[in-house]
Amino acid sequence: MIPLVKTNIPAREKMMPELEKILYRGYVAQGEQVEHFERAFETFVGKGHSLSVNSGTSALHIALILAGVQPDDEVISTALTAEPTNVAIKMMGAKIRYADVDYTTGNISPKSIESNINKSTKAIMVVDYAGIPINVPAIQAISLKYKIPVIQDAAHALGAKFNGSKTGNHFQYTVFSFQAIKQLTTIDGGMLQIESKEEYERAKLIRWFGIDKKLSRLENNIQFQGYKYHMNNVNATIGLVQLAEIYSILNSHIDNGKYYDHELQAIPGVELVDYYPGSEPAYWLYTLKVENREGFIRKLADNGIAASELHKRNDWHSYLNDFHTELPNLDKFYDKLVHLPCGWWITVENRDHIVNTIKAGW
Ligand SMILES: Cc1ncc(COP(=O)(O)O)c(C=O)c1O
Repeated sequence: MIPLVKTNIPAREKMMPELEKILYRGYVAQGEQVEHFERAFETFVGKGHSLSVNSGTSALHIALILAGVQPDDEVISTALTAEPTNVAIKMMGAKIRYADVDYTTGNISPKSIESNINKSTKAIMVVDYAGIPINVPAIQAISLKYKIPVIQDAAHALGAKFNGSKTGNHFQYTVFSFQAIKQLTTIDGGMLQIESKEEYERAKLIRWFGIDKKLSRLENNIQFQGYKYHMNNVNATIGLVQLAEIYSILNSHIDNGKYYDHELQAIPGVELVDYYPGSEPAYWLYTLKVENREGFIRKLADNGIAASELHKRNDWHSYLNDFHTELPNLDKFYDKLVHLPCGWWITVENRDHIVNTIKAGW
């Protein structure tokens, strides 16, 4: 079966010497390698400050704290995402106010964000679902107009771009996940890209019990709630080895994605997803809309191809459904949504086989 997702581990000859060095150096906790990984990631993104953490979920939690979200505040979010996006909002004791999606892209609709803003709104959570960039300029304009911070959950969108600049350059807070099946994996881990230097310094304290690592334990005076969210030297070492070859991974996702964009046009029963002008998807997964999704998934499975909708829309979890909002565009989109395997493991033969299977009908 051609899998929908797969873990990428660089070649043994590259990974094992580095891992061996760090494992037996005597210091595996947060140290020099973590610092190297953060600075290398900053260079990759090109702007802002990179705070490494033990998961994307921890990065979301810290971002929500920095954004000033308090219990009973509202955060506008999307239901088309993985659960951590919205579970993190609930970790704050806040309420999730779902905005609808744009039917053409599946991403959160700026118009719907604006119509859901009220006096309890403290933050806007946006997701580049499956690696398709959100409508960056429209969301930036709303953030500016209402002075509401934006948290961009870019767990699927490492290396995506908008108007030529990489994801991580556009909002106050951008979250990346380095969990097992992401383009870059540290086995588990994440990064919070923070625009402001001052907030970055505060985030370092939140990441580690509220303790300032620059001072001795006795000199410290904890003044607010912190957590144990740091990355360690072992995960950071894996991250550095991954980062050294990240462009070849990202480019193979993009190459396969563009191939599907071209080859799957004008097939009866297939509706391609649109991308906002100026956006360049990361194609973590390939997203499309199909008639008779069940039949489509069955046909592909019969031909050795794993395809699926992957995520359950989050408003269908009762704990994540605070306001029972009508989401008519998401209803239509989710009915037809399906993902195809698109990553670095898809060979030229694989993608031809996938396209030909779809062209044969289901
Ligand atoms: C959209 C999205 N946000 C957040 C996360 C959370 O990341 P992590 O698993 O690293 O905590 C994930 C996936 O794992 C995700 O898919």
